[in-house]
Amino acid sequence: MRAKPKMAIMISGTGSNMEAIISSCRNGSLDAEPVIVISDNPSAPGVKKAASRGIATFSAPYGKGVPREENEAPIIDAIRRADADWIVLAGYMKILTPSFVRAFPGRIVNIHPALLPSFPGAHAIADALEANADITGVTIHMVDELVDHGPIIAQEEVAIMPGDTEDSLGARIHAVEHRLYPRALQELFHEDV
Ligand code: GAR
Repeated sequence: MRAKPKMAIMISGTGSNMEAIISSCRNGSLDAEPVIVISDNPSAPGVKKAASRGIATFSAPYGKGVPREENEAPIIDAIRRADADWIVLAGYMKILTPSFVRAFPGRIVNIHPALLPSFPGAHAIADALEANADITGVTIHMVDELVDHGPIIAQEEVAIMPGDTEDSLGARIHAVEHRLYPRALQELFHEDV
């Protein structure tokens, strides 16, 4: 692994975790370089934010009825062209195919807003509230061929308060995510240093 690993960051929406990661690279607490930001949604706010921070962006909207492998092919090309060492999923809401995962073995990381294996899927915060859980949290994990699954790198609990809404709980989860993700990536990228 080279001294300053190169990251492809994949997003679908706001991109607040992407911003936390970029800021950590710029302030030196994460020794890595964001080389490209990829989105399945060209109008995701995170795409503009990445461009305004001078990072190359690549949008790959998925065609309806098109096999997922075909939708992913230009993304795989973009990652290879950018020469990225790591793929960092930061709110990427499409499920990656096993063939995508196999193209980058042991090199894809994800963040999930719950304590996996609890509340996998796209609505983890709502699902934790719906289940009347006392505790939820944040998980950072390596991506394997199953959904929201793979070796866990870091987890942190977030308590659910009486009267919490998706907004109030989501804000506390995001605050944890923004601190935990850059730190977990630094440890992952430089664990043998
Ligand atoms: C984050 O909370 C992330 O954990 C979640 O999407 C949000 C993206 O926010 N990811 C998943 O739910 C994946 N299953 P952001 O765009 O502001 O970083």
